Amino acid sequence: MTFLITAGPTREPIDPVRYLSNHSSGKMGYAIAAAAAKKGHRVILISGPTILNVPSGCDLIPVETAADMSQAVGNWISRVDVAIMAAAVADFRPVEYQTQKIKKTTETDMMTLELIKNPDILAEARSIHGYGGLLVGFAAETENVLHNAREKLNRKKCDLILANDVSQPNEGFNSDQNTITAVYPDKEVELGSHSKTHLGALILELCEDFVRR
Ligand code: CTP
Repeated sequence: MTFLITAGPTREPIDPVRYLSNHSSGKMGYAIAAAAAKKGHRVILISGPTILNVPSGCDLIPVETAADMSQAVGNWISRVDVAIMAAAVADFRPVEYQTQKIKKTTETDMMTLELIKNPDILAEARSIHGYGGLLVGFAAETENVLHNAREKLNRKKCDLILANDVSQPNEGFNSDQNTITAVYPDKEVELGSHSKTHLGALILELCEDFVRR
């Protein structure tokens, strides 16, 4: 099968020296990509900036902003069987990019940055691209984890949402460990707490089982 996997953070530039981003390391998406390539699947890995090595056998498409990621996904999604959106896409970007470095002034200590919503790349898969393959999203939550995950499953028309509680110390963002519950339209399956490498293999198996059904 062919897998499309988004991973890592996006960076939304403010001026030539600054950007908005988040703590995503990319480890979860890269672990799924590595597991899929190891099983002989073709993997298109669309990734924001990370320090990780590209897993062997994966085709990397490096991107920087949410807009770049959205465009790359749009270019590829009609050619894949499974799309897994593991990227921590910045929800907002500055309305205007300042071409020169923003300087402090002596008149005020305050600064306001106007932001505009980024495209929801996961939701666009069905709504804009009419994607008909297996669609898997993540839900990073700090409260009401399963309720919020199920709301995302329905709103973004996913087949499966992998929910994780990012309020737990040493878990989720930028750690090697994660605790995941797989939320399907009709059931929930606890994958438990594992290394992201192991979870990558478990998630890959869930996707293979889903497609074989
Ligand atoms: N996602 C996306 N594009 C966005 C925002 C999110 O593709 N602009 C995807 C993520 O890759 C993930 C899922 O949507 O698979 C949920 O991301 P999450 O950050 O948990 O939720 P949001 O949709 O951003 O909602 P909120 O921040 O309100 O929880």
